[in-house]
Amino acid sequence: DNGHYFSKKLLEWNQEHNSRTMPWKGESDPYKIWLSEIILQQTRVEQGWPYYERFIAAYPTVKKLAAAPDEEVFRLWQGLGYYARCKNMLAAAREISSTYKGRFPNDYNAIRSLKGIGPYTAAAIASFAFNLPYAVLDGNVFRVLSRFFGIDTPIDSTTGKKQFDELAQKLLPPEQSAVYNQSIMDFGAVVCKPQLPACSSCPVAARCTALHQNLIPLLPVKSKK
Ligand code: ADE
Repeated sequence: DNGHYFSKKLLEWNQEHNSRTMPWKGESDPYKIWLSEIILQQTRVEQGWPYYERFIAAYPTVKKLAAAPDEEVFRLWQGLGYYARCKNMLAAAREISSTYKGRFPNDYNAIRSLKGIGPYTAAAIASFAFNLPYAVLDGNVFRVLSRFFGIDTPIDSTTGKKQFDELAQKLLPPEQSAVYNQSIMDFGAVVCKPQLPACSSCPVAARCTALHQNLIPLLPVKSKK
């Protein structure tokens, strides 16, 4: 079926053609995954990259971050904005430090319960750090899946979220969740881009619904709020 085709082609593309590098890619330290995902929540990769490097240099472990004075951490955060993110990050670091003795929890629900961690970030940490079978659903994934499968349900609606979540979870090869999740995000960033996607070099173009029905510029659909 198309689901199996999609996952298989995506993993092949990743092995043979994905040359994207980022400092947190392939990382399995949950602290580093978490830090990168918090920074990238409302920030582009290129902008977040130097912040990530400076945070890891200043605080190489979650315990070091938890012990840092608020003001010092806020100074390092300067330029990223959305200070609630930084405050939640510190609260989570301190909870991990005290409740979990500095060891990041390796259970989805425990991860999800930390301050500032929603379903996307919890799935990213669970899969990248612990290879647990949770599919990530971010802007890249919504775009790729809506186009390939021709889904026009608004991605910001309750039914849309549920529909995409079930599909993403079905497509995920459970034993390869880390590499698969990273592959689909990279694929969305470098091939199935928002503007001018690289359909001529796309490994799944042969079965892409949006390409064949000329729906690329119309997908994904967002309900005007
Ligand atoms: N955006 C947020 N997390 C990412 C990741 N791990 N890879 C690529 N883009 C991302």
